[in-house]
Amino acid sequence: TKETKQYTIGFSQCTGADDWRKTMQESMHRELSFNPEIRLITKDAGGNSSQQIGQIKELINQNIDLLIVSPNEAKPITPVVEEAYQKGIPVVILDRRTDSDQYTAYVGADNQEVGQIAGSYTGSILKGAGNVIEISEKPGSSADTDRHKGFMAAIKGFPQIKLIAKLDGDWDKNALEAPLTKLLKSQTDIDVIFCQNDRRALAAIKVCKQLGLDKKVRLIGVDGLSVPNGGIDLVDKGILNATILYPTGGEEAIRTAIAILQKQPFKRENRLQITTIDSTNVRIMKLQSEKVAAQQLDIERRQKKIEEQRAISENQNVIIWTVSIT
Ligand code: FRU
Repeated sequence: TKETKQYTIGFSQCTGADDWRKTMQESMHRELSFNPEIRLITKDAGGNSSQQIGQIKELINQNIDLLIVSPNEAKPITPVVEEAYQKGIPVVILDRRTDSDQYTAYVGADNQEVGQIAGSYTGSILKGAGNVIEISEKPGSSADTDRHKGFMAAIKGFPQIKLIAKLDGDWDKNALEAPLTKLLKSQTDIDVIFCQNDRRALAAIKVCKQLGLDKKVRLIGVDGLSVPNGGIDLVDKGILNATILYPTGGEEAIRTAIAILQKQPFKRENRLQITTIDSTNVRIMKLQSEKVAAQQLDIERRQKKIEEQRAISENQNVIIWTVSIT
Protein backbone atom coordinates (compact mmCIF):
# COMPACT_ATOMS: atom_id res chain seq x y z
CA THR A 1 0.00 0.00 0.00
CA LYS A 2 1.12 3.53 -0.76
CA GLU A 3 2.42 5.55 2.13
CA THR A 4 0.32 8.64 2.74
CA LYS A 5 2.46 10.37 5.34
CA GLN A 6 2.54 14.14 4.88
CA TYR A 7 5.84 15.62 3.74
CA THR A 8 7.11 19.09 2.95
CA ILE A 9 9.69 19.59 0.23
CA GLY A 10 11.50 22.92 0.08
CA PHE A 11 12.66 23.99 -3.35
CA SER A 12 15.29 26.69 -3.63
CA GLN A 13 15.21 27.97 -7.21
CA CYS A 14 18.10 30.23 -8.29
CA THR A 15 15.88 32.31 -10.54
CA GLY A 16 12.33 31.81 -11.71
CA ALA A 17 11.86 34.46 -14.31
CA ASP A 18 12.64 32.65 -17.55
CA ASP A 19 10.73 30.08 -19.60
CA TRP A 20 13.20 27.28 -18.89
CA ARG A 21 12.72 27.64 -15.11
CA LYS A 22 8.94 28.05 -15.56
CA THR A 23 8.88 24.82 -17.56
CA MET A 24 10.90 23.14 -14.79
CA GLN A 25 8.44 24.27 -12.12
CA GLU A 26 5.39 23.29 -14.16
CA SER A 27 6.75 19.78 -14.57
CA MET A 28 7.44 19.59 -10.82
CA HIS A 29 3.85 20.55 -10.04
CA ARG A 30 2.48 18.15 -12.61
CA GLU A 31 4.45 15.30 -11.09
CA LEU A 32 3.40 16.35 -7.58
CA SER A 33 -0.27 16.31 -8.46
CA PHE A 34 -0.04 12.51 -8.21
CA ASN A 35 1.00 12.92 -4.55
CA PRO A 36 -1.40 15.34 -2.85
CA GLU A 37 0.11 14.40 0.54
CA ILE A 38 3.31 16.23 -0.43
CA ARG A 39 3.57 20.00 -0.03
CA LEU A 40 6.10 22.00 -2.03
CA ILE A 41 7.42 25.33 -0.81
CA THR A 42 9.28 27.14 -3.59
CA LYS A 43 11.58 30.09 -2.98
CA ASP A 44 12.91 32.06 -5.91
CA ALA A 45 16.24 33.80 -5.31
CA GLY A 46 15.95 36.08 -8.34
CA GLY A 47 19.48 35.26 -9.50
CA ASN A 48 21.04 36.50 -6.25
CA SER A 49 23.28 34.12 -4.29
CA SER A 50 23.02 35.84 -0.89
CA GLN A 51 19.25 35.83 -1.26
CA GLN A 52 19.40 32.13 -2.05
CA ILE A 53 21.51 31.43 1.06
CA GLY A 54 18.95 33.27 3.21
CA GLN A 55 16.07 31.40 1.62
CA ILE A 56 17.70 28.00 2.15
CA LYS A 57 18.19 28.94 5.83
CA GLU A 58 14.51 29.85 6.05
CA LEU A 59 13.57 26.50 4.53
CA ILE A 60 15.78 24.67 7.04
CA ASN A 61 14.05 26.57 9.86
CA GLN A 62 10.65 25.64 8.45
CA ASN A 63 11.57 22.00 9.15
CA ILE A 64 11.32 20.79 5.60
CA ASP A 65 11.64 17.03 5.07
CA LEU A 66 13.77 17.36 1.95
CA LEU A 67 15.55 20.15 0.07
CA ILE A 68 15.69 20.46 -3.72
CA VAL A 69 18.14 23.12 -4.80
CA SER A 70 19.26 24.58 -8.10
CA PRO A 71 22.26 26.67 -7.03
CA ASN A 72 22.70 30.13 -8.52
CA GLU A 73 26.51 30.07 -8.24
CA ALA A 74 28.37 26.98 -7.06
CA LYS A 75 30.82 28.36 -4.52
CA PRO A 76 28.71 30.68 -2.34
CA ILE A 77 25.78 28.24 -2.16
CA THR A 78 27.91 25.24 -1.14
CA PRO A 79 28.19 25.83 2.67
CA VAL A 80 24.46 26.31 3.31
CA VAL A 81 23.60 23.21 1.28
CA GLU A 82 26.20 21.26 3.26
CA GLU A 83 24.63 22.63 6.44
CA ALA A 84 21.21 21.28 5.43
CA TYR A 85 22.73 17.92 4.50
CA GLN A 86 24.64 17.67 7.78
CA LYS A 87 21.43 18.42 9.68
CA GLY A 88 20.05 15.22 8.16
CA ILE A 89 17.84 16.87 5.53
CA PRO A 90 18.07 14.87 2.30
CA VAL A 91 19.29 17.11 -0.53
CA VAL A 92 18.47 16.74 -4.22
CA ILE A 93 20.65 18.97 -6.40
CA LEU A 94 18.91 19.94 -9.62
CA ASP A 95 20.55 21.20 -12.86
CA ARG A 96 23.40 23.39 -11.51
CA ARG A 97 25.73 21.89 -8.92
CA THR A 98 27.44 23.01 -5.73
CA ASP A 99 31.19 22.45 -5.23
CA SER A 100 30.55 19.64 -2.76
CA ASP A 101 29.69 15.97 -2.83
CA GLN A 102 27.51 16.35 0.26
CA TYR A 103 24.12 15.68 -1.27
CA THR A 104 21.73 12.77 -1.46
CA ALA A 105 21.05 12.77 -5.19
CA TYR A 106 21.77 14.80 -8.31
CA VAL A 107 19.37 15.25 -11.23
CA GLY A 108 20.45 16.94 -14.44
CA ALA A 109 22.31 16.69 -17.69
CA ASP A 110 26.09 16.82 -17.89
CA ASN A 111 27.03 20.40 -18.77
CA GLN A 112 30.54 19.46 -19.90
CA GLU A 113 28.88 17.20 -22.42
CA VAL A 114 26.65 20.13 -23.49
CA GLY A 115 29.75 22.25 -24.20
CA GLN A 116 31.52 19.35 -25.84
CA ILE A 117 28.66 18.73 -28.27
CA ALA A 118 28.43 22.45 -29.08
CA GLY A 119 32.20 22.52 -29.71
CA SER A 120 32.16 19.48 -32.01
CA TYR A 121 29.20 20.93 -33.87
CA THR A 122 31.12 24.20 -34.31
CA GLY A 123 34.09 22.24 -35.65
CA SER A 124 31.96 20.43 -38.17
CA ILE A 125 30.02 23.43 -39.53
CA LEU A 126 33.26 25.43 -39.82
CA LYS A 127 35.03 22.49 -41.44
CA GLY A 128 37.77 22.86 -38.88
CA ALA A 129 38.67 26.54 -39.26
CA GLY A 130 37.19 29.83 -38.07
CA ASN A 131 36.66 32.39 -35.32
CA VAL A 132 34.27 31.93 -32.45
CA ILE A 133 32.72 33.97 -29.64
CA GLU A 134 31.18 32.38 -26.56
CA ILE A 135 28.45 34.08 -24.55
CA SER A 136 28.19 33.03 -20.92
CA GLU A 137 25.37 31.55 -18.88
CA LYS A 138 25.64 32.84 -15.30
CA PRO A 139 29.35 33.21 -14.45
CA GLY A 140 30.17 31.22 -11.32
CA SER A 141 27.38 28.72 -11.97
CA SER A 142 28.42 25.16 -12.63
CA ALA A 143 26.48 25.32 -15.92
CA ASP A 144 28.73 28.12 -17.12
CA THR A 145 32.00 26.61 -15.91
CA ASP A 146 31.24 23.15 -17.27
CA ARG A 147 29.80 24.24 -20.62
CA HIS A 148 32.88 26.37 -21.20
CA LYS A 149 35.21 23.52 -20.19
CA GLY A 150 33.51 21.07 -22.55
CA PHE A 151 33.43 23.60 -25.38
CA MET A 152 37.15 24.36 -25.06
CA ALA A 153 38.03 20.66 -24.91
CA ALA A 154 36.13 20.03 -28.14
CA ILE A 155 37.51 22.95 -30.15
CA LYS A 156 41.02 22.03 -29.04
CA GLY A 157 40.64 19.22 -31.53
CA PHE A 158 40.49 21.84 -34.32
CA PRO A 159 43.74 23.84 -34.19
CA GLN A 160 42.42 26.38 -36.67
CA ILE A 161 39.36 27.28 -34.64
CA LYS A 162 39.99 30.18 -32.33
CA LEU A 163 37.91 31.38 -29.39
CA ILE A 164 38.24 35.15 -29.86
CA ALA A 165 36.35 36.11 -26.71
CA LYS A 166 34.02 34.87 -24.01
CA LEU A 167 31.51 37.54 -23.08
CA ASP A 168 30.82 37.15 -19.38
CA GLY A 169 27.96 38.85 -17.67
CA ASP A 170 24.75 38.38 -15.77
CA TRP A 171 22.69 38.79 -18.91
CA ASP A 172 19.39 38.28 -17.11
CA LYS A 173 20.11 41.60 -15.42
CA ASN A 174 22.36 43.45 -17.87
CA ALA A 175 21.86 44.07 -21.56
CA LEU A 176 24.02 41.96 -23.83
CA GLU A 177 23.43 44.12 -26.91
CA ALA A 178 25.99 46.87 -26.22
CA PRO A 179 29.05 44.68 -25.41
CA LEU A 180 28.26 42.30 -28.26
CA THR A 181 27.83 45.14 -30.77
CA LYS A 182 31.17 46.59 -29.69
CA LEU A 183 32.88 43.23 -30.03
CA LEU A 184 31.41 42.44 -33.44
CA LYS A 185 32.42 45.87 -34.72
CA SER A 186 36.03 45.38 -33.65
CA GLN A 187 36.18 41.71 -34.71
CA THR A 188 34.62 41.56 -38.13
CA ASP A 189 35.63 37.99 -38.91
CA ILE A 190 33.43 36.04 -36.48
CA ASP A 191 31.93 32.84 -37.89
CA VAL A 192 30.12 31.25 -34.95
CA ILE A 193 28.64 32.49 -31.69
CA PHE A 194 28.13 29.79 -29.08
CA CYS A 195 25.47 31.08 -26.70
CA GLN A 196 25.19 29.16 -23.47
CA ASN A 197 21.41 29.42 -23.70
CA ASP A 198 18.81 30.19 -26.35
CA ARG A 199 17.73 33.43 -24.64
CA ARG A 200 21.21 34.83 -25.26
CA ALA A 201 21.05 33.49 -28.81
CA LEU A 202 17.87 35.47 -29.38
CA ALA A 203 19.59 38.65 -28.18
CA ALA A 204 22.69 37.87 -30.27
CA ILE A 205 20.57 37.34 -33.40
CA LYS A 206 19.13 40.85 -33.07
CA VAL A 207 22.63 42.33 -32.84
CA CYS A 208 23.84 40.35 -35.88
CA LYS A 209 20.82 41.54 -37.86
CA GLN A 210 21.44 45.16 -36.94
CA LEU A 211 25.04 44.84 -38.10
CA GLY A 212 24.05 43.00 -41.28
CA LEU A 213 25.92 39.91 -40.11
CA ASP A 214 23.00 37.51 -39.82
CA LYS A 215 23.87 35.67 -43.04
CA LYS A 216 27.51 35.32 -42.08
CA VAL A 217 27.52 34.50 -38.37
CA ARG A 218 26.08 31.17 -37.30
CA LEU A 219 24.57 30.70 -33.86
CA ILE A 220 24.43 27.75 -31.51
CA GLY A 221 22.29 27.80 -28.38
CA VAL A 222 21.36 25.58 -25.45
CA ASP A 223 17.97 24.59 -23.93
CA GLY A 224 15.76 23.71 -26.92
CA LEU A 225 12.45 24.68 -25.34
CA SER A 226 9.30 24.23 -27.39
CA VAL A 227 7.79 27.64 -26.59
CA PRO A 228 7.43 30.62 -28.95
CA ASN A 229 10.94 32.01 -29.55
CA GLY A 230 12.40 28.99 -27.74
CA GLY A 231 15.23 26.99 -29.31
CA ILE A 232 13.06 24.63 -31.34
CA ASP A 233 11.10 27.55 -32.80
CA LEU A 234 14.30 29.47 -33.66
CA VAL A 235 15.92 26.45 -35.33
CA ASP A 236 12.68 25.76 -37.21
CA LYS A 237 12.65 29.33 -38.52
CA GLY A 238 16.26 28.96 -39.64
CA ILE A 239 17.39 31.77 -37.31
CA LEU A 240 19.41 29.54 -35.01
CA ASN A 241 21.75 26.96 -36.53
CA ALA A 242 21.44 24.48 -33.69
CA THR A 243 20.49 24.15 -30.06
CA ILE A 244 21.51 21.52 -27.51
CA LEU A 245 18.37 20.21 -25.82
CA TYR A 246 18.97 20.60 -22.09
CA PRO A 247 16.13 18.99 -20.10
CA THR A 248 14.93 20.76 -16.95
CA GLY A 249 14.72 17.61 -14.81
CA GLY A 250 11.76 18.97 -12.81
CA GLU A 251 9.76 15.77 -13.03
CA GLU A 252 12.76 13.52 -12.28
CA ALA A 253 13.72 15.64 -9.26
CA ILE A 254 10.26 15.19 -7.75
CA ARG A 255 10.28 11.46 -8.46
CA THR A 256 13.70 11.11 -6.84
CA ALA A 257 12.60 13.23 -3.86
CA ILE A 258 9.50 11.08 -3.33
CA ALA A 259 11.54 7.87 -3.54
CA ILE A 260 13.93 9.23 -0.90
CA LEU A 261 11.09 10.33 1.40
CA GLN A 262 9.24 7.05 1.04
CA LYS A 263 12.43 5.06 1.58
CA GLN A 264 12.23 3.50 -1.87
CA PRO A 265 15.31 2.71 -3.97
CA PHE A 266 16.70 5.68 -5.90
CA LYS A 267 19.77 6.53 -7.96
CA ARG A 268 22.29 9.02 -6.58
CA GLU A 269 23.37 10.31 -9.99
CA ASN A 270 20.52 10.85 -12.43
CA ARG A 271 22.16 11.96 -15.63
CA LEU A 272 19.62 13.23 -18.15
CA GLN A 273 20.08 12.75 -21.87
CA ILE A 274 20.87 15.64 -24.17
CA THR A 275 20.66 15.89 -27.93
CA THR A 276 21.42 18.31 -30.75
CA ILE A 277 18.54 19.92 -32.60
CA ASP A 278 19.27 21.38 -36.02
CA SER A 279 17.59 21.54 -39.42
CA THR A 280 17.95 17.78 -39.86
CA ASN A 281 15.65 16.85 -36.95
CA VAL A 282 13.81 19.99 -35.88
CA ARG A 283 10.52 18.98 -37.51
CA ILE A 284 10.33 15.70 -35.66
CA MET A 285 11.35 17.37 -32.40
CA LYS A 286 8.62 19.94 -32.91
CA LEU A 287 5.98 17.31 -33.63
CA GLN A 288 7.08 15.25 -30.66
CA SER A 289 7.02 18.12 -28.22
CA GLU A 290 3.60 19.23 -29.47
CA LYS A 291 2.34 15.71 -28.89
CA VAL A 292 3.78 15.61 -25.37
CA ALA A 293 2.22 19.01 -24.62
CA ALA A 294 -1.18 17.76 -25.81
CA GLN A 295 -0.88 14.63 -23.67
CA GLN A 296 0.03 16.72 -20.66
CA LEU A 297 -3.03 18.90 -21.16
CA ASP A 298 -5.06 15.71 -21.33
CA ILE A 299 -3.59 14.48 -18.03
CA GLU A 300 -4.37 17.83 -16.41
CA ARG A 301 -7.96 17.70 -17.74
CA ARG A 302 -8.42 14.19 -16.36
CA GLN A 303 -7.01 15.17 -13.00
CA LYS A 304 -9.39 18.12 -12.81
CA LYS A 305 -12.29 15.79 -13.57
CA ILE A 306 -11.19 13.38 -10.83
CA GLU A 307 -10.96 16.29 -8.39
CA GLU A 308 -14.45 17.48 -9.38
CA GLN A 309 -15.88 13.97 -8.97
CA ARG A 310 -14.19 13.67 -5.59
CA ALA A 311 -15.64 17.02 -4.47
CA ILE A 312 -19.13 15.98 -5.64
CA SER A 313 -18.98 12.64 -3.85
CA GLU A 314 -17.67 14.24 -0.64
CA ASN A 315 -20.53 16.73 -0.86
CA GLN A 316 -23.04 13.93 -1.30
CA ASN A 317 -21.67 12.14 1.74
CA VAL A 318 -22.18 15.31 3.75
CA ILE A 319 -25.74 15.66 2.47
CA ILE A 320 -26.62 12.02 3.22
CA TRP A 321 -25.15 12.34 6.67
CA THR A 322 -27.03 15.62 7.30
CA VAL A 323 -30.33 14.08 6.16
CA SER A 324 -29.89 11.03 8.38
CA ILE A 325 -29.44 13.01 11.58
CA THR A 326 -32.34 15.39 11.04
C1 FRU B 1 17.66 29.10 -16.95
C2 FRU B 1 19.01 28.70 -17.38
C3 FRU B 1 18.94 27.89 -18.66
C4 FRU B 1 20.16 27.10 -18.56
C5 FRU B 1 20.18 26.76 -17.10
C6 FRU B 1 21.52 26.45 -16.59
O1 FRU B 1 17.68 29.91 -15.82
O2 FRU B 1 19.79 29.84 -17.56
O3 FRU B 1 18.84 28.67 -19.78
O4 FRU B 1 20.24 26.04 -19.40
O5 FRU B 1 19.65 27.87 -16.45
O6 FRU B 1 21.58 26.29 -15.23
